Amino acid sequence: MKVLFVCLGNICRSPLAEAIFIHKARINRSADTWEADSCGTSNYHIGSTPDPRTIKNAKRNGIEIKHLGRQIGVGDLEDFDLILAMDKSNYHTIMKIENATRHKHKIHLLRKYDPQGGEDVPDPYYGGEPEFQEVFDILSRSIDSLLESLREK
Ligand code: 4NP
Repeated sequence: MKVLFVCLGNICRSPLAEAIFIHKARINRSADTWEADSCGTSNYHIGSTPDPRTIKNAKRNGIEIKHLGRQIGVGDLEDFDLILAMDKSNYHTIMKIENATRHKHKIHLLRKYDPQGGEDVPDPYYGGEPEFQEVFDILSRSIDSLLESLREK
């Protein structure tokens, strides 16, 4: 099972989602069978390390984050089993990629898994630590529920 987390810049939300997923999957000894990666819909931060505020927030929450920014491509729709967008804008951009309609069944909003409901994981880029922590909390509980659902399959 290969899961791809997608946001706009691939320096805040999606690399954090990837790191949280890997961390939680490892605790549950499922890391061997479940792979995760992340990317952005934009080309703004190709090759960049995650935003320093994301790295700091992740560390405060006990998560190590290691990723270099990359942009989503046509091949990702073939390669991954589950493609989870952080917000509706990301989702619509993904759906414009060639042949995306063929893969529609595996492209979803991540918050489909949020036990508290909601649609978008808010973009924290212009926010401060409270916004970064809110993103962390949303991702953490959504990924708990995502892992539960993967385990049931
Ligand atoms: P992300 O946040 O999509 O969660 O990585 C953003 C990062 C960079 C920009 C926007 C959002 N930007 O405009 O550069």
